Amino acid sequence: MCGIVAYSGRQQARGILLDGLRRLEYRGYDSSGIAILNSTPYLARAVGKVAELERRVAQDEPQGLVGIAHTRWATHGKPTELNAHPHTDCQRQIFLVHNGIIENYQALKNRLLAAGHQFRSETDTEVLVHLIENAYNGHLESAVQKALLEVQGTFGIAVVHAAHPAEVIVARRGSPIVLGISADASLAASDVSALAQHTTQVVYLEDNEIARLGPGEYSIKTLDNRAVSRSATALERVAGDLERGDFPHYMLKEIFEQPEAVENALRGRVNHSEGVAKLGGLESVLDRLSQARHLIIVSCGTSYYAGLFARYAFETLTDMTVETELASEFRYRKLNIRQNTVVLAISQSGETADTLAALREAKRKGALVLGLVNVVGSTIARETLAGVYSHAGMEVGVASTKSFTSQLTILLLMALLVGRSRDLSYEEGERILRGLEEVPGQIREILKLSDAVRELAARFCQASHFLYIGRKYQYPIALEGALKLKEVSYIHAEGYAAGEMKHGPIALIDPSFPTVALAPADGSFDKVVSNIQEILARSGPVIAITTVGNTRLASLVNHVIEVPHNVEILMPLLTVVPLQLFAYHCAVLRGCDVDKPRNLAKSVTVE
Ligand code: AGP
Repeated sequence: MCGIVAYSGRQQARGILLDGLRRLEYRGYDSSGIAILNSTPYLARAVGKVAELERRVAQDEPQGLVGIAHTRWATHGKPTELNAHPHTDCQRQIFLVHNGIIENYQALKNRLLAAGHQFRSETDTEVLVHLIENAYNGHLESAVQKALLEVQGTFGIAVVHAAHPAEVIVARRGSPIVLGISADASLAASDVSALAQHTTQVVYLEDNEIARLGPGEYSIKTLDNRAVSRSATALERVAGDLERGDFPHYMLKEIFEQPEAVENALRGRVNHSEGVAKLGGLESVLDRLSQARHLIIVSCGTSYYAGLFARYAFETLTDMTVETELASEFRYRKLNIRQNTVVLAISQSGETADTLAALREAKRKGALVLGLVNVVGSTIARETLAGVYSHAGMEVGVASTKSFTSQLTILLLMALLVGRSRDLSYEEGERILRGLEEVPGQIREILKLSDAVRELAARFCQASHFLYIGRKYQYPIALEGALKLKEVSYIHAEGYAAGEMKHGPIALIDPSFPTVALAPADGSFDKVVSNIQEILARSGPVIAITTVGNTRLASLVNHVIEVPHNVEILMPLLTVVPLQLFAYHCAVLRGCDVDKPRNLAKSVTVE
């Protein structure tokens, strides 16, 4: 899950490539590199953030109108300068950047070594440039085609050759590549964020396609040499989302953007006269959806926890049988996918390889495959039959926040849509819609607690372990809260079903092991209070998230965060916000790089 960008045009390439890298940095940031063609090709690589590379390039000021660049998330070989991309062939004539994993690289490498090629890095990627060198006889595109036909695994690549000064070759299988076309320039990148400021015309490459770019021109073929005609489509502008504004971090900005994110998710989708949701993206499959009896939700990470919440929501609002599956485990499950099975893939980025593999598996088995995605035009959006965009706006912080609350909002609208086509009453539908419309204002109230949450974080951010507990709709939120803390503060945290705690994890509890308990005043409140009592009995510190005015808890535990009251099934949209703020403040107080946590990347495009 690296970021690659390429340019061929009339302007100096270095500025355009470095700006592209900055915009793609959330995809991987352990090292980076750039190659620019001119009489003597220029190559620079640096360990660490893109800023390191920028410093080097600023000193050298390389000239040239064609180039490629890369920001890395290491899969094979440590983040060193030698392992950073671009990689070159033995003659340093061919330069290549890659996003993905070459599964048969060792066998290919052994063959190339035996043929006398010298390798400089520990990466899987380097075999690609030597394979191209091996196949090259004056025509770069066909050499790349030949090389890629030998490869097993995934790739998004960009290649330049000193002997072809205006040409860039790009290709994809599994990892995203989008082209940006303007009158006198062509670009390619892992996602549109690196193109949006240069053009509004984009072309998405599909798997096993290769493209040749020149200034303002492009052609596409399949790897087995069939011509592909695909015209450019207009890019939906996401301008403004990339600016951090006065916020010190994107994560905090995106936490504070949640009221708008929920408003965007609801806009034009609420029908009060019928007490139902209106989801344009599902209209073409409404008949099949309303007959479906079986729903399988596939996703990863935070999106998986949104799926887990959806299981409770669909079971409450519809009579569907719902299964929530980790996408990376889906291929190993023998799930009974029937004609009226719906498989819903949830993904913020729309590029997560595990989720993509799961939905392709479901399609192969004949399921109706739908998507809930934030990034417009992403691969999952294009490969699902129908779906809904969450319109949460661009999410730059690696830790998902606003995309989660907008996912929960839309999953509730989906459950409502199906439920109202069955036994769910108008009154119940209206109650939930009215409650949803209160959520943005209520989140604004909760955001005013940020300073108080920071004080709490100051008390607990040196703890080494945390437990998060919740019941029913709050159980997925406990898991999400623990994930947020792990991701950005590197504190070990476990989310647990509150009732499960006494079957093991309670052994961990002592005065140095705090617990965050999700205890809104709902149907499972009393049971959660008993679980809190069990922890207090073992001198475990407890931070409770509950509903405003709930004095019973205030008398029991020292640290209470109150959120406004709403319909029980909607409370997760409120209780998650203090957990996001807590994780954020703990991370800042521990001096962590909140927006680019170590070892993570925003879009996981490798399995
Ligand atoms: C969440 O904060 C993480 N960034 C990660 O767990 C993420 O949710 C997961 O990789 C799935 O990403 P997706 O929603 O883009 O598919």
